[in-house]
This record gives sequence, C-alpha cells and structure tokens, in this order.
Amino acid sequence: MTETIIVDRKDRVGLITLNRPKALNALTLQVMHEVVAAAQEFDRDPGIGAILITGSAKAFAAGADIKEMQPQSYLDVYLSDWFAGWDALARVRKPTIAAVAGYALGGGCELAMLCDILLAADTAKFGQPEIKLGVIPGIGGSQRLTRAVGKAKAMELCLTGRMMDAEEAERAGLVSRVVPADRLLDDALETAATIASMSLPTAMMAKEAVNRAFESSLAEGILFERRLFHATFATADQKEGMAAFVEKRAPHFTHR
Ligand code: HXC
Repeated sequence: MTETIIVDRKDRVGLITLNRPKALNALTLQVMHEVVAAAQEFDRDPGIGAILITGSAKAFAAGADIKEMQPQSYLDVYLSDWFAGWDALARVRKPTIAAVAGYALGGGCELAMLCDILLAADTAKFGQPEIKLGVIPGIGGSQRLTRAVGKAKAMELCLTGRMMDAEEAERAGLVSRVVPADRLLDDALETAATIASMSLPTAMMAKEAVNRAFESSLAEGILFERRLFHATFATADQKEGMAAFVEKRAPHFTHR
C-alpha cells in the first residue's frame, strides 16, 4: 500500500504517479522509498516493458520537501546519506520515462533527469533553485543537467535558480519532445507502450548502450555532489534559507 504515489499498470507499461497534491508533490524520504520500490517491482516483473513516472498538471514535483529537510543537521544528512536512495532509480534496467507538466524544480528536475526519456507538457518549468535555500542540488542535478544542456546553461540555472520553460528545455536538449498539456499522459503512455512492444532484452541493451555514452564517471560526480550537498547543512545560510521558505519570507543570508 503506497501513501504518496499511485501505482498502476496499462498493459505492459508500469505507471507511477506522484500524489502529494497539497505539497506540489514535494519529495520526502517516503516518496523516495515508494517510487524506488515501485520502480524496482516493475523492473522485476516480466510483464512490464517500460516504466512511466508522472505528477499532476500543476507540478511534476516542486523539489525535495523543504519542511522535511529544514531541521536536519550536517551529521543527520551525512550519516543517513540523505537522498542516496534515489540512485537506485538510475539502476533500474528497463526504460524509464518522465512525463512532466508544471513545476519540475530542484529534486523534481533531478527525478525527471533520472529517467531515460523526458517528455514535457508545454506548461512544464524546469529549474535547480536550491541555491536560493542555501544548498546545492543533491540528487545528481549538477551532473545530469550539465551533461544534458552543457556547462553554460547548467551553471546559470544552478547559480541563479532561474526556471526555464518547456520550449527552452527542448532547445537545450533536456527534453525529447514538448506536447500540449492535455495530450501529455496519452502521448507518454503511447511512447512507453511503443517501447514496451519492443524486445525487452534489446530495449534494455539499447538503454545500457546509450547510458554508457552519457554516464562515464557520473558516479564520481554524484558522490562528490552529495558530500557537498550534505555540507551545505553545516552552514547558517541553509538554516536561514529553509526557515525563510517555511515562514514565507525572503531569506537574509550572512554568507556563513
Ligand atoms: C515543501 C513545498 C515545496 C517544497 C511547495 N511546497 N514546494 N513544501 N517542499 N519543495 C508547498 C508550499 O509550502 C505550500 O504549502 C504548497 O506546497 C503550495 O505551494 P505555494 O508556494 O503556495 O504555490 P505557488 O505559489 O503556486 O508556488 C509554486 C512554487 C513554490 C514556485 C513551486 O512552491 C516554490 O518555490 N517551491 C519551492 C521550490 C524549491 O525551492 N524547490 C527546491 C527544493 S530543494 P502550504 O502548506 O503553505 O499550502 C531541493 C534539494 C534537492 O529540491 C536536493 C536534495 C538532496
């Protein structure tokens, strides 16, 4: 029984829908455990050929859950290896697709980038706004975004927290296609069904081959990023950034 996601299957497609509408699908540890467990179960299921992850019309996911992270100390996040569980999604061997409408920010953008194919509705907005909270991406964003869109744009997005719309994301190579919002789920299901109709082992090998080009030394980058992400919890600015969000006010960073 899942509480934060809805798990469904459409013929040979496994469908995972993020379902915390009141928090714009913010990613708690529970969401992580449920998404990863559902994806792994589909991965083991011989009747499934592709896995589709989606959110709501307003938000794919507005980031890691700031309220859950706010009280954590550096040692809390370092010792529990906060969010390392998401790495298991990258190890799912069947093709995965993210269908994104609305906000895909911070951890939400990173979750979408963990998938093999990223389809966007024309309402999608992507960004890595962690810097506004006094932290940096922690689920691979600094590595995968840079590989997807290049250094210039990744640097700008990570340093300013600016969002990019679907059209810019497609131009930059982050998403494979943009479709009208009301077509997103049907279109994504169709794409997933097409993939699921192919030879499963061949599709898995094709995925492995493409990833080989994309991923060399990614693991190193992710580990490096995670340790730095954990270290941001040792700063006063992280405490201030998250407190300001929760208290609905502008942050006053002291640069310490
Ligand atoms: C917790 C969140 C949240 C988040 C939104 N909410 N995003 N709660 N964590 N990331 C909650 C709000 O507090 C609010 O709850 C409700 O969802 C609706 O959000 P609003 O802000 O009222 O909606 P709106 O005005 O439409 O603005 C949408 C928004 C904004 C622009 C997406 O919510 C926003 O800026 N969210 C934070 C985005 C962000 O910084 N993401 C990165 C997180 S850090 P209440 O209870 O008030 O109704 C991150 C780290 C990744 O992801 C690395 C970790 C390892």
